[in-house]
Amino acid sequence: MSVLITGGAGYIGSHTCIEMLDAGYDVVVIDNLYNSSEESLRRVEKITGKSVKFYEDDVRDKQALEKVFKENSIDSVIHFAGLKAVGESVKMPIAYYDNNLESTISLIEVMKEFGCKKIVFSSSATVYGVAKEMPLKEGMPTGAINPYGRTKLFIEEILKDLYVSDNTWSIVLLRYFNPIGAHKSGLIGEDPKGIPNNLMPYISQVAVGKLEKLHVFGNDYNTVDGTGVRDYIHVVDLAKGHVKAIDYALKNIGCEAINLGTGKGTSVLELRDAFVKANDVSVPYVIDPRRPGDPDEVYADATKAKQLLGWEAELGVEEMCKDTWRWQSNNPKGYEK
Ligand code: NAD
Ligand code: UFG
Repeated sequence: MSVLITGGAGYIGSHTCIEMLDAGYDVVVIDNLYNSSEESLRRVEKITGKSVKFYEDDVRDKQALEKVFKENSIDSVIHFAGLKAVGESVKMPIAYYDNNLESTISLIEVMKEFGCKKIVFSSSATVYGVAKEMPLKEGMPTGAINPYGRTKLFIEEILKDLYVSDNTWSIVLLRYFNPIGAHKSGLIGEDPKGIPNNLMPYISQVAVGKLEKLHVFGNDYNTVDGTGVRDYIHVVDLAKGHVKAIDYALKNIGCEAINLGTGKGTSVLELRDAFVKANDVSVPYVIDPRRPGDPDEVYADATKAKQLLGWEAELGVEEMCKDTWRWQSNNPKGYEK
């Protein structure tokens, strides 16, 4: 069985390549390397002892996609490729709509042309918009508060419409909470360009000495210690969720949105403290004003994933911290030589 993984050289994609290869799938990757390095795929091959067929192309390019489908017998697709920085999406919304929507439409058209109708899409908890209650359940109202989130929401709607128009498709919309951590080998991990926007890479870059101190965005939220609470999920657990989602898509038709989270919230200071304790490192911090648009708490109801996919997160915050640090300390410059 061959799976096409768009964006497979990226953070979540590379971890998913490993789990799909380990589960016995042949893996074909298409990635334009806009936010990644081919080195991640070489390391995937090193870890698994298996090869990945790689196409350095843009998913918007239909001819390139047709070539991939002609040269490989693709049974299913995991669609990670996309731009993902919330702040950047506010500054350059058209680039986000162009990249994220255009790539999905080209992909669906080519999949249809080749009779491949099984797709797992990388959605996000951001599609719940400003939620009135926690935990977040799949049936709750959706909304978007920035262009990035709107691309995820629009794509979910496009895929739902596609299923209504042709119910031989099998579509799984995976709504990720906050992926952190890295593969146990310390060979692959998150390699953000420039100064990280997200909490965990910021903490680990402070610990390794690349950044001076952590800026905690607000300590007056309505949470356990006043700092923002999120549902952090180990990227390897998340990757395993994709194997289950593909197994499910191969056996069922339909269009299902499914949360991938742990169901457990952790505050900014709890995560910082856990990182310090797990790795015996120093992470100095200051309290700064709130970051505009950040909610107090976000965490998942993860029961649908357990019921439908037979998946639940296994790794805790301590492993997330240890594994992040192994990657960061072994590769202080990421994939850069
Ligand atoms: P990433 O940037 O590491 O990976 C995305 C990959 O897609 C990169 O390798 C990039 O080069 C590639 N890409 C982007 N546009 C492309 C295009 N037009 N053609 C070909 N390749 C293209 O990001 P990630 O953290 O691994 O996220 C993967 C997916 O999961 C994204 O769709 C993201 O929006 C979604 N997601 C991520 C998070 C998170 O916190 N990391 C949370 C929710 C959802
Ligand atoms: N935070 C800090 N300092 C930092 C970075 C973050 O205090 O330097 C805080 C934030 O205020 C928040 C928490 O740490 O309380 C987590 O912030 P992240 O930026 O790591 O994650 P978010 O929950 O804000 O955003 C993530 C993804 C988005 C996605 C969103 C909802 O990055 O792409 O989850 O799914 F839209």
